[in-house]
Amino acid sequence: MSVRRLWHEQPASFAFTADNAAWAEKAIKRYPEGRQASAVIPLLWKVQEQEGWVSEPAIRCVAEMLDMPNIRVLEVATFYTMFQLQPVGKKAHVQVCGTTPCMLRGAGDLISICKKRIAGHAHELSADGDFSWEEVECLGACVNAPMVQVFKDTYEDLTPESFEALLDDFAAGRTPKPGPQVDRHYSAPQGGPTVLNGEAKPAKAPAAKATAAKAATEKAAPNKAAAEKTAKEPKKAPAKPAKAEPAALSDEHKPTGLEAPREGKADNLKKISGVGPKIEGLLHSLGIFHFDQIAALTPDQVAWVDGYLKFKGRIGREDWISQAKTLAEGGETEFSKRTGKRK
Ligand code: FES
Repeated sequence: MSVRRLWHEQPASFAFTADNAAWAEKAIKRYPEGRQASAVIPLLWKVQEQEGWVSEPAIRCVAEMLDMPNIRVLEVATFYTMFQLQPVGKKAHVQVCGTTPCMLRGAGDLISICKKRIAGHAHELSADGDFSWEEVECLGACVNAPMVQVFKDTYEDLTPESFEALLDDFAAGRTPKPGPQVDRHYSAPQGGPTVLNGEAKPAKAPAAKATAAKAATEKAAPNKAAAEKTAKEPKKAPAKPAKAEPAALSDEHKPTGLEAPREGKADNLKKISGVGPKIEGLLHSLGIFHFDQIAALTPDQVAWVDGYLKFKGRIGREDWISQAKTLAEGGETEFSKRTGKRK
């Protein structure tokens, strides 16, 4: 753990602005009588929002407001690394995550840019005093690595170019939009959703069908007594909705399948990435048993099979055709090498 000490140059005094003082009074009142010390972290955070860092006079001010010994507030401020104990850049203090996922995805490049554009060492102010930087441990956005935090906001999925552009924005006094700096929403797939994006829901049974079913039940009851008995019987759980049929597919583009695998032996279609046992069974039901049959599908047939499998766009996304071509020619794909032993 790093040694965290108060900065060697301290201001003579500290006072909250009128707005922040009012905010602090309100924050303290949230806690029960005698428990005002619980507000120590919110108040220190407000100090940091106002000044950029936590000074020794600010620690004394907070201690006085909360009726705490100075040493208790000092302990909190020096324990939590989110509190800056020395002046930081006025426009941005850049905290670069340097933990493994971010480091593997290019945090080293971001640190090099900080050294080049801000200052040679962490916690050093830039020549104009506008920027400072430091390396920090995981900030909890590993799925969007590499990332940095500037004050309260995080900027994710960075490249050296987008990070430079980010620094340009701060330097020009603009506040860039936080979050991923690529085309994705939070940690959703880049370019938009790739699953659950258009599969049809099973249609509800039309009212006419329900009425017909009721009439049939009544007709089936041999007499009134039996019908009444039926009515008194506890209601059975509603029947499960019938399995949705594949979307209406024009037979025009249905690929011509085989009656049975050639020489009685089908290829292991699961060697194609995206084909599991269930899909392999569906392909067999279409008479598709061999790699060369998949490799020869026309675009219309691909669309038809996609519709039949109810995985819109999957064949294209997983590139079944070129995988099947390679396998049909006796070659292997990266995927098939890994799954070669799977039967
Ligand atoms: S490793 Fe960088 S945010 Fe977790």
